[in-house]
Amino acid sequence: MTDITLDVAVGRPIVRVDGPAKVTGAARYAAEFDVPDLAHAALVQSTVPHGRIRRLDTAAAEAAPGVIAVLDHRNAPRLPYHVMSPRAPVDPAGEQLRVLQGPEVLFVGQPVAVVIARSLEEAVHATALVQVEYDERPAVTRLADGVGDPHEPPAGKPADLSRGDADAALAVAEVTVDTLYDQPVAFHCAIEPHVTIAAWDGPRLTLWDKTQWVDNDRAEIAHVFGMPEADIRVISPFVGGAFGSALRTWPHVTLAAMAARHAGRPVRLELTRRQQFVSTGYRPRTVQRVALGARADGRLTAIVHEVVANTSVYEDYAETTVEPSAMLYACPNLRTAYRLVPVNVNSPCPMRGPGVATGVYALEAAMDELAEALDMDPLDLRLANHADADPNKGLPWSSKSLKACYRTGAARIGWHARDPVPGSMEADGMRVGYGMATAVYPTHRAKASAQAIVFADGTAEIRSAASDMGPGTYTSITQVAADALGLDTGRVRFVLGDTDLPRAPVHGGSITLASVGSAVRAAAFAVRARLLAVARGDPASPLHGLNADRVVFADGRMIHADDPSRGERVADLLARHGLGSVDATADAAPGAEQTQFSMYAFGAVFAEVRVDPDFGTVRVARLVGAYAAGRIVNPLIARSQCIGGLTMGIGMALTEQGDWDPRLGRVMNANLAEYLVPVHADVPPDLDVAFVDEADPHVNPLGSKGIAEIAAVGVAPAILSAVHHATGRRLRSLPLLPERVAGLAR
Ligand code: MOS
Repeated sequence: MTDITLDVAVGRPIVRVDGPAKVTGAARYAAEFDVPDLAHAALVQSTVPHGRIRRLDTAAAEAAPGVIAVLDHRNAPRLPYHVMSPRAPVDPAGEQLRVLQGPEVLFVGQPVAVVIARSLEEAVHATALVQVEYDERPAVTRLADGVGDPHEPPAGKPADLSRGDADAALAVAEVTVDTLYDQPVAFHCAIEPHVTIAAWDGPRLTLWDKTQWVDNDRAEIAHVFGMPEADIRVISPFVGGAFGSALRTWPHVTLAAMAARHAGRPVRLELTRRQQFVSTGYRPRTVQRVALGARADGRLTAIVHEVVANTSVYEDYAETTVEPSAMLYACPNLRTAYRLVPVNVNSPCPMRGPGVATGVYALEAAMDELAEALDMDPLDLRLANHADADPNKGLPWSSKSLKACYRTGAARIGWHARDPVPGSMEADGMRVGYGMATAVYPTHRAKASAQAIVFADGTAEIRSAASDMGPGTYTSITQVAADALGLDTGRVRFVLGDTDLPRAPVHGGSITLASVGSAVRAAAFAVRARLLAVARGDPASPLHGLNADRVVFADGRMIHADDPSRGERVADLLARHGLGSVDATADAAPGAEQTQFSMYAFGAVFAEVRVDPDFGTVRVARLVGAYAAGRIVNPLIARSQCIGGLTMGIGMALTEQGDWDPRLGRVMNANLAEYLVPVHADVPPDLDVAFVDEADPHVNPLGSKGIAEIAAVGVAPAILSAVHHATGRRLRSLPLLPERVAGLAR
C-alpha cells in the first residue's frame, strides 16, 4: 500500500478540537462525574515527621452529623499490596506507602484516618474531631542531616558515568570552575486537584480518576487489592494539568476504593490544595557540584557533575539529572555521581523536564561561569564545544539542529548587539542583562495500540487509552488520523482516557504524540487496507482489481493515483456492501533505530532581564525559546505548550520554592498564596517561541520529537546568566529571590 499522505492537517495551526467542550463546561473531569448515591471522603493526616500512633480517638467523629464511617489502621481492611513485577516504570524502587495498614508514620501528611460522610462539608468537619497522639521518633528533616551518608540509587536507575579521567584532567586544566548549585523542592500546582471517585459493583470496581495513565492506574489498584485487572475500569477523559504529578497511582486512589467498599456506596475523595503538597510528588531538592576544565581556547577537557537529591524513607526516587552533562558537549573526560538522601517526607516524582531541567540548570550555570573565566562569549563557548555525535552513547544523532536554534534565538533577542560587560547596561534606572542557555530533552517512544473505525456516514473514530493533560493530544492525534484516513479533521473523533480502549503508554516524558500517533497511523493504514480489499474485489467499484499502491485516500474518497477521475466515496463503498463501519486495530513500537541513533530534541533559550539595583527584584523583559523538535504537527498548540514550559522555567528561576521548616518537618507554604507560581505580571507579554525546520527520518514514523518537557529546560540558567550580566553577581541558589539578588542572602 502506498504511504502517501497529503498533509492537509499535519503542520496546520488548527485550534483545539476539545476547546468548545472545555470552554462550555461540557468536558467532564474526574471530580465531575455524576455517580448516584455518592458519599464523600476526607483525610486526617499525620502531624509528625516520624513516629507511631499511640492513641487515635474517632468517637466524636463517628457521632458527628452525616458521618457514615471512619477508617483508620485499626479497622481498615488489610490489603495484599502485591508487588508489580517489574514495577511500573513510573514507580520508584522501594516499597510504596501502604495506607492505613499500621500505626507507623513516616512523614507529615501521611493519611492516618479517612472520614466518609454524606456530604463533603460533613466529612471535613468530622476530620477535625478525630484525635491522634503520637510517640515521636527521631526524623531526618533536612537534606544536610543526611548528606553525610548518601546512597546510590538502586540498580537499573541512572548509574555513575565516566569516560577518560575527569579528575586528573581537571587538575591540569588551563581554566577551571568548580561550584555548588542549590535548588529547592518545587510543586506541580496543576489547576485540577487530584481526585478519585470509586464505585463498586459486586467484585467490579470503576475509578474516575485524575491520571496520566489509565492502564497503569488499573494495574496498580489490581495489585494493591489483589484483584484481576479485568474487574477494574479506569475513566479519565480530561486532565486539568499534571506535569508529572498524575503519572503514578498515589495512595489516595487506594483510600477512595477502600472507603467505597467499606461504605457500600460510591465515594469521592478529592485532595485539598494543601493536601496535594504532601499527597502527590514534587521536584526533589538537589545540591549539585559541577566542575569544568577547559583549554584557553574554550574547549572542554573535563566535566565532573555530582548530585545529591532527596528521596523519601520508603522509596528511592532517582532522576537522570547527570545525563545532560554526559551528552550535551564534546568532552573527553567525564565523571558523574548521583546520590540519594532519605528524608522523612513523601516521595518525590517527575515534574516537567524531570532530572534534565535540574541537571541542565547546574551544567549551564557552570558553563556561564566558565565563559566568564575564559573571557569568552557564552554562545561562542557552546559552539566551540558542540557535540557532532553523542559522546555518551557513541552514536550519531538521529538529527540535531542545535546550531540553528542558537542562531535563531540569538537573532531574535539581539544577542550580538548587547554590551557583554557585566553591569554595563541600564534602562529606566534598572540594570539590564542578557543571558542564554542550551535546552535538551531525550526523544523517547513506547509501544502503543489504537483502533480506527470508519463509518458509513463518512466519519471516523480513533480509540486509544491515551491521556491529554493539556498539551493538545486530542487535536494533534486527530490531525495525524485525518491525514492517514484522507478525511477532514472535523470528521474524525479521538476517544481516549478509558481502560476499555486499546492500550497506550504513559502520558509523560513527551512521548505521547510519537507513541500513540504512530499507532494511530498504523491503525488508519490497516483500516485503509480493509477498505481497499473490499473495493478491489467489487466489480462495481471504479477501483476494482486495482493495485493497492495505486490508490490514494483524500477528501473522504479512494482515488486512483494516476487517474483522479477514477475513484469513489468511502461512504458509497460501505453503503453498497451494507457495512455500517469498517475497523482495524494496530500496534506501533520502537525498533532497531533505538540502538542505531541517539535521539534528542534540542533548543536554545535567551533571556533579557531588568534588575532593580536597590530592591533586587528581577523582571524577565523578554524570553526567546528556539527549538528543533522534528516535525511540528500543530504550530499553534506547540507554541502554547512552549509558553507553558517557559513560564514554568520563570517560576523555577524566580519564584517557586517549597519553604521547609526543619523543626516541624513540613512545607510551610502549602498553598497557592505563598507558593508562588508565576502570574501574568511575572511573565513578559510576548514569550517568543520559534521552531527551526528539522526533518528526522529516524525517530518515529511521524518524524516528531516531543516538545513538552524541553520547554521547561534551560530557562532558569538563561535567566541566571542574564542576572549575572545585569549585576555582575554570581548567584547559585534558586529561586533568585530579591534578598539574594540584592546581596542580603545566599
Ligand atoms: Mo512529564 S514529567 O509527565 O510533564
